[in-house]
Amino acid sequence: MNDVVSRSPNSAEAGWQRLSATRMFDLSGQVIIVTGAASGLGLAIAEVLNVNGARVTLIDIDSRHLHESAALWTQRGLPVEAVVLDVTDSQALGNAIDGVVTRYGRLDAVFANAGISAGPGFGTDAGQASGCLERIDLTSWDRVLAVNLTAVMQTMQAAAVHMKRSGAGRIIVTASIAGVRAEPFVGYAYAAAKAGVINLVRQAAVELAPHGVLVNAIAPGFMHTDIGGGRLHDAAVRNQLAAQVPLGRVAEADEIQGLALFLASTASSYLSGVVIPVDGGVLAC
Ligand code: NAI
Repeated sequence: MNDVVSRSPNSAEAGWQRLSATRMFDLSGQVIIVTGAASGLGLAIAEVLNVNGARVTLIDIDSRHLHESAALWTQRGLPVEAVVLDVTDSQALGNAIDGVVTRYGRLDAVFANAGISAGPGFGTDAGQASGCLERIDLTSWDRVLAVNLTAVMQTMQAAAVHMKRSGAGRIIVTASIAGVRAEPFVGYAYAAAKAGVINLVRQAAVELAPHGVLVNAIAPGFMHTDIGGGRLHDAAVRNQLAAQVPLGRVAEADEIQGLALFLASTASSYLSGVVIPVDGGVLAC
């Protein structure tokens, strides 16, 4: 029988209210952690979650910028807290995630977003010296893998313990288009780590699905943030990248917010194990 037809007018109306954008994307009462939240994409993600009702714990290694953002939001009356740590410190990371659950009694979503550049890739002028295969520096390689891959796995691990127990949760990882295809603009370690997190997401999505935990990745294209020592602040660099983008420009950080909100909300209740690009059409080429 048609479900809508079988409902009384009142319950049908309640059903339609459920479809309002306000209701569908409302995160009121939710508790969410965002790593790498002091700047760029993490800050933009945390902001949209916070404004739509979530209590957000911002994690970052950059104490000054983290506290500046948290103080601004607290002044606006938004529920937010800042935790300064290096995500490669697995003990501190685990304690921070456990601490959120202890303080607020729940953990609805985690955005594993903290990441660093591996320096210029082989396809950039600056990268000619250091970005090619035979010049990979192992110290830098280890650090990039530690932040961009191992710490993402440990963020997922620490969150999954609580989410499995509660039978629900969202894990969202900031990957990159550089994890999906060759990207001459980025260093090898970055490309390898981003490819790694994409399959971590698929693997965990399948394992955690029976526990009601959804695991997905966002794959940004070229976004105007501080990453890589701020090289995207150089208009010439942005123009060079924009030439590869069907939409013809580099994105601003807030252009990730719609997808971030969608992935944290009930609107994405049947979505798991996917990698969604926010790339102005690059991966379509
Ligand atoms: P960003 O440099 O503006 O932000 C990264 C944040 O992560 C910073 O606040 C930084 O302090 C923090 N962080 C770095 N290492 C950390 C550590 N060990 N522990 C805790 N926090 C740490 O850069 P952006 O662009 O916002 O990067 C966010 C994520 O987006 C990264 O995973 C990056 O790889 C990814 N991404 C960025 C793209 C872009 O074009 N900007 C493209 C594709 C992916």
